[in-house]
Amino acid sequence: DRTLREVAESRGFDVGAAVDADSLRRDASYRTRLAEEFSALTPENALKMGPLRPTPDTYDFRDADAIVNFGRANDTTVRGHALVWHNQTPDWFQSWDYTDDQLRTFLREHVHTVVGRYRRTVDAWDVVNEAVADDGTMRETVWYDAMGEAYVDRAFEWANEVNPDADLYYNDYGADAVNGKSDAVYDLLDRLLDRGVPVDGVGLQLHALGEWPDPASIAENVRRFQELGLDVQITEMDVAFPAGEAPDDALERQAEYYRDVVDVCLETGVDTLVTWGVRDADSWLRSFRDFSERFTGDPLLFDDRNRPKPAYRAVSEAL
Ligand code: XIL
Repeated sequence: DRTLREVAESRGFDVGAAVDADSLRRDASYRTRLAEEFSALTPENALKMGPLRPTPDTYDFRDADAIVNFGRANDTTVRGHALVWHNQTPDWFQSWDYTDDQLRTFLREHVHTVVGRYRRTVDAWDVVNEAVADDGTMRETVWYDAMGEAYVDRAFEWANEVNPDADLYYNDYGADAVNGKSDAVYDLLDRLLDRGVPVDGVGLQLHALGEWPDPASIAENVRRFQELGLDVQITEMDVAFPAGEAPDDALERQAEYYRDVVDVCLETGVDTLVTWGVRDADSWLRSFRDFSERFTGDPLLFDDRNRPKPAYRAVSEAL
């Protein structure tokens, strides 16, 4: 039997996974799954500002290097996630008494250094992550407070200065189908393009929790972003079912949903779908109390023991 990666690549499609640096170092079966089944890798945490910046003047690239090098060695694409985000900022940030100008200088240096280091090894960047709040306004973050919406423009420009060949994405959650939030993301992208900002695409995270976004509506949403001239990718997919649902039925429904989303990708020309982890046991949903109490948290393509699930077979069949 062909692996998922072989099936996907024969269709010109990349199925990817978020990668955890510790599992990569420690666990040979994890490495095998990654290399054989996936052709696109996203460091799950290693390239976020907090992990990368233990002190104001230093960088710790060890985890990121390990993942990026593994990707290159196995001939996968690598997505850099994420240059600018409001979460997982460094701890020392809290007590840093900066001026707006210092923050701007810090961010510029950060983007230049990180994109520069991986100029030859990272193909795509989530330059700005989750800048739009759930109510559709710009999220009030340290970046927004210091620079206004211009922080988004500058981040893309700075990344583009250092690596004009990389594909630069805006990435967000809850903007998968046509809804108020994706309207606001659409408007933001439209403004960026009007201002000549070098943005190449939109990442739809597609964390399907509670209500799973309607596939037909995802297709409609993808198309409107494509009509702006943007590339669209599914960047962090997982599909969690409500706690209490009968496990067998739930796994089948989950498989059907993965299949429907792959169908949407093929119909609309989306060529990359990244799942947010490899095994269910790796999923971030397991460790988030809020989520794990409401969902059973078995959202990925491989089960806790690294065996392919119905969802794995559904993705492969759909391709
Ligand atoms: C999550 C990681 O999976 C966790 O390990 C970490 O503790 C918190 O962040 N949206 C994103 C991702 O863009 O970076 C988040 O990843 C999940 C939600």
